[in-house]
Amino acid sequence: MLKEKVLTREEIDAAIERLAARLNADLVGRDAVFVCILKGAVYFFTALTARLKESVVIDFIQVSSYGATTESSGTVILVKDLTVDISDKDVFVVEDIVDTGLTLADVIALLHARHPRSVRVVTLLSKPARRRKDVPLDFVGIEIPDRFVVGFGLDFAEHFRNLPEIWEYLPDQGV
Ligand code: PRP
Repeated sequence: MLKEKVLTREEIDAAIERLAARLNADLVGRDAVFVCILKGAVYFFTALTARLKESVVIDFIQVSSYGATTESSGTVILVKDLTVDISDKDVFVVEDIVDTGLTLADVIALLHARHPRSVRVVTLLSKPARRRKDVPLDFVGIEIPDRFVVGFGLDFAEHFRNLPEIWEYLPDQGV
């Protein structure tokens, strides 16, 4: 059951605008590759990168840990790899949400093995109360409390990603 709207589209857009402004100040002179972690980050990724003033390379990687539950399994599976070479590039990993941090920790380790110049993290949402791995987050849009959220890319069992706003979802009370 969708319980209540946690973030309006206006609040989401304002957070993206703030992140884009910080990134635009940072990107000058960099050889940047923006990596979208599919599928959750895709709405955030397109909105964010479309606000960047410098040309950047974009690519996509897909990992999965949750399956059809609200709890991370703690085991991240690489579903789809990058197609570009990131060696000597400034990599910006783009996430929709950092919860336990387990997904991001594995993705960062995987990317570092390819010898990028730097790896930094951009996330729309962060849920610090749930953190199990202390991953450095360089650009955070909005910190949220420990509530299970869907919409704007975030899913429950693959549903609700297309909702324009972010909602709290209560999984035990039906769709
Ligand atoms: C979600 C989300 C993050 C990750 C965050 O992805 O998009 O990648 O979980 O959780 P964590 O910090 O506890 O690891 P998921 O594995 O559900 O795949 P999806 O992006 O396809 O929904």
